[in-house]
Amino acid sequence: MDYQKVSSLAKRRGFFQPASEPYGGLAGFFDYGPVGVKFRERILRVWKRHYVLGLGCLELDGALVGPEDLFKASGHLSEFDDPLVECKECSKNYRADQLVEGGSGMAREELAEVLKSTLCPSCEGELSELSAFNLMFATQVGAGRGTKGYLRPETAQSIFQCFPWLYRLNRNKMPLAVSQIGRSYRNEISPRQGLLRMREFTQMEVEHFFLPKDEPSVPTHLGKISLVLVPNEGEVLEIDIESAVKKGVIGSALVGTHLAAAQAFLQSVGIPKESLRWRQHRKDEMAHYSQDCWDGEIKTSIGWIEVVGVAHRGDYDLRSHGTSSGNEFRVPIPGTSKTVERWGLNVGALGKAFQSKAGEIQKSVSEMELAPGMKVLLDGEEISLGEEFFKKETNQESEMVYPCVVEPSFGLDRLFYSILETTWKEDGERQWLSLPRVVSPYDVLIAPLMTKDGLAEKAKDVCNMLLENGIDVFYDESGSIGRRYARADEIGIFHSITIDYESLEDDTVTVRERDSTEQKRMSISSLKDLF
Ligand code: ATP
Ligand code: GLY
Repeated sequence: MDYQKVSSLAKRRGFFQPASEPYGGLAGFFDYGPVGVKFRERILRVWKRHYVLGLGCLELDGALVGPEDLFKASGHLSEFDDPLVECKECSKNYRADQLVEGGSGMAREELAEVLKSTLCPSCEGELSELSAFNLMFATQVGAGRGTKGYLRPETAQSIFQCFPWLYRLNRNKMPLAVSQIGRSYRNEISPRQGLLRMREFTQMEVEHFFLPKDEPSVPTHLGKISLVLVPNEGEVLEIDIESAVKKGVIGSALVGTHLAAAQAFLQSVGIPKESLRWRQHRKDEMAHYSQDCWDGEIKTSIGWIEVVGVAHRGDYDLRSHGTSSGNEFRVPIPGTSKTVERWGLNVGALGKAFQSKAGEIQKSVSEMELAPGMKVLLDGEEISLGEEFFKKETNQESEMVYPCVVEPSFGLDRLFYSILETTWKEDGERQWLSLPRVVSPYDVLIAPLMTKDGLAEKAKDVCNMLLENGIDVFYDESGSIGRRYARADEIGIFHSITIDYESLEDDTVTVRERDSTEQKRMSISSLKDLF
């Protein structure tokens, strides 16, 4: 299977196609068709089973557009860019690191040097100087001059800006894991290879917050999972997570936990173990917020492609939002609570002495450390506040800290594509998607042998019975049975049920299994147990 074949299958069978096709398309945007929608839903259902049920994540569905200040704080407006060159002759734009061999591994200075001797691949014209192109999509919110807004480049920022609310909803407890599935937008310089580099794509992300000195250890059931690691220094190795963390190959236990969880999830949706590896980022490759990052890469006909990144983001995000917004994004460290005596204002005494000016004084000291003798400006004159305007207050206070976060960030579209490529099978006579049952777009094909003599009606009765039991059916009555099996195989439906004349007599049907093509006779009443 290769990229061309996936695209043709996708179009033929209703998985996906380029968006706005009648208008010539818009690069980097895609529409998912009827089968694609089902397939996405299935992948998401398995993901939720792993992360929402398995890991106990709280779910969020944040807004797609955020204000400029949010993305200034997150660093995306200043840091989130790709290297751009333009052809001086034909004006084509290129992502510079994709233009030269090994470019993705080069520092910007090195890349700029190599580009001096590189010509436009399209017209052989001279290329411009290297520049930084910011990937954020800007939009205007509201009428007139409005307010500047941006489409989020990662779902993660919705979670970070909601942290104080989510922490409260988690009854002020840490660790706290929050998951989100949603669209993200990046104005990629050269979107290509279909679902692999889009301008609008879907992410499935978890932000797993923890106290810096209280990092959760690897759960036993995940510790035994073994995976192939490509560290940024040293040899490629296959190792179980528990040992990798113990030996320091993986520097953080929670990063280890998420590598194992991601490996388990990817295998459960059909990615073969031998097509999966975990590559650690080089220091100069990491995103501006990252301390350590491992990419989950899948081997495809195009090469190794990243479908998930597991990043240790430290406290970068919560610290930035805390300091930029002026809101409290820190949490108390348990066990550090102590009684603290501080001076507070004696509002009654202030009111009596300063009457209508008391409020002004209160406001001007609101951000200051209070103490008798402190000076304030009143009507342009400096006055000193004596002890009579203060009272001692006793509070329980804890040391506060910004939580750290580890993030697995999956791209649904790249995973969608990779599953199609890696599960495709051909044996000369037929071709099929050997999908695990859990991600098969439909549970079963229902096919009446003929549409006459009551066979179609009987088949529809079976459909209804299965639908009522929560089983997703694909009803198909057109063409020969062979063609219908072939169509179902191509979209990976695991079981096919044929209703024939015998079914009318004894309420039995033929059940065919996709991979083996074995067929057996079953009673209609026992069908729901099959699923
Ligand atoms: P690349 O290096 O390939 O550009 P990235 O490092 O920018 O990817 P991340 O920023 O780590 O990717 O994004 C997390 C995940 O989101 C990726 O693993 C990928 O699955 C998905 N993703 C990112 N950019 C795109 C895109 N343009 N199209 C489709 N999916 C994407
Ligand atoms: N949230 C990680 C990323 O999208 O880059």
